Amino acid sequence: MKADLIVGIQWGDEGKGKIVDLLAQKYDVVARYQGGHNAGHTIVVDGKKIALHLIPSGILNPNAVNIIGNGVVVSPEALIKEMQQFENLEGRLYVSESAHMILSHHIAIDQAKEKLRGTKAIGTTGRGIGPAYSDKISRSGFRVGELRDVEKLSERILEYCTQNRALLDALGVAIPQKNALLKELIGYAKVLLPFIANTTQMLWKDIARSKRVLLEGAQGTMLDIDHGTYPYVTSSSTISAGACTGLGLNPKDLGTITGIAKAYCTRVGNGPFPTEDFGSDGELIREKGHEFGTSTGRARRCGWFDAVACKYACRINGVDQLSIMKMDVLDGFDEIKVCVAYEKNGERIDFVPDDLEGVVPVYKTFKGWKSTQGIRSFDALPKEAKEYLKEIERLVETKIGLVSTSPDRNDTITLL
Ligand code: GDP
Ligand code: IMO
Ligand code: MG
Repeated sequence: MKADLIVGIQWGDEGKGKIVDLLAQKYDVVARYQGGHNAGHTIVVDGKKIALHLIPSGILNPNAVNIIGNGVVVSPEALIKEMQQFENLEGRLYVSESAHMILSHHIAIDQAKEKLRGTKAIGTTGRGIGPAYSDKISRSGFRVGELRDVEKLSERILEYCTQNRALLDALGVAIPQKNALLKELIGYAKVLLPFIANTTQMLWKDIARSKRVLLEGAQGTMLDIDHGTYPYVTSSSTISAGACTGLGLNPKDLGTITGIAKAYCTRVGNGPFPTEDFGSDGELIREKGHEFGTSTGRARRCGWFDAVACKYACRINGVDQLSIMKMDVLDGFDEIKVCVAYEKNGERIDFVPDDLEGVVPVYKTFKGWKSTQGIRSFDALPKEAKEYLKEIERLVETKIGLVSTSPDRNDTITLL
């Protein structure tokens, strides 16, 4: 049995949570492969909103097992807080023993470095993501499995602080006191130990036993550390390939890959965003789409659908089907624009260049439609909305398998 995968196609917040929750009803296992509590996935069921950051969006299916893979950076504090929303998690949630931990100094370093960057700040979520991944790559990180011996772990953390004292002092980051640190770690271990596991072995067994496995990405392709708009990216491999390293799978384990994109684009934080609309249209999208971050509450920058970036993302992820989200947010616009090419240094290009800064979008304009809200079948969509979707399929050379017309789990059109 192959593992199916959900991946963000744009700059995050595409609506991955809604689709994972919807599809999770048909899966036995849902596994997150990267990112940390920088992610914010909002799910709406029967009008009730649930915000998830670290726990996979499969948690609302009482029969699904949820895995936080080795590629995720886990803040024990954030995880424990999130777990408190749910009852009876034992046997339904597992955290990889090899996942790296975000500790308080990572958060302090993230925030201090952003301050130092001044006008060139990345606009991170301030949750310690970059510093935790930096420590992992520089082989000085702390892994979840180390909570099994908190004495030893606390010694390792203090040793790290001594070795990095000059940097921590310069950034104004406090060095923890031994007793307070130990107490903190004992608290984490007490809650988390029953959930720590070798999740790679678990997944291999599940796949061998033909269990249905869904892999959940956080953030989006344009925020990928290698293939996004560097340096204005997050610190992990957000693309489908990241699921292999982030869970211990091989490329042959992957089945259907579903790319999640909005019918328009948004971005939180800084960095290039060719189709950003600084006028009333962008404002209207923000208002109608409630485009404010789930994690940080920041206003999201809004603009038109970027078919060039979407085609690039479909290729890099191997997307089999796209899920076009938030169609209803475009309801009522007289005209809707789609970026079909870029102009860079006066030259027209149809690919994503290494540096998107200063790129000018070339738009095609579509006639708007009245309402798609809550529609659950393709045939019932207004003619103009159908044409819009057909043209997106053509431009990005990828089939659309799902269309979403409201935050609710059930307001979804299935096409393939
Ligand atoms: P994620 O990070 O990709 O999971 O996305 P977020 O949860 O951060 O942001 C997507 C937001 O859009 C959430 O508040 C969802 O409830 C909402 N949403 C998802 N699909 C739709 C849709 O089709 N229409 C509308 N209006 N809202 C949607
Ligand atoms: P979900 O999973 C949107 C952005 C931040 C910032 C950059 C780096 O909800 O789609 P980081 O804290 O990761 O070092 O910040 O990445 N970012 C997101 N933007 N959705 C997310 O997650 C994001 N996670 C990080 O705003 O620009
Ligand atoms: Mg989000």
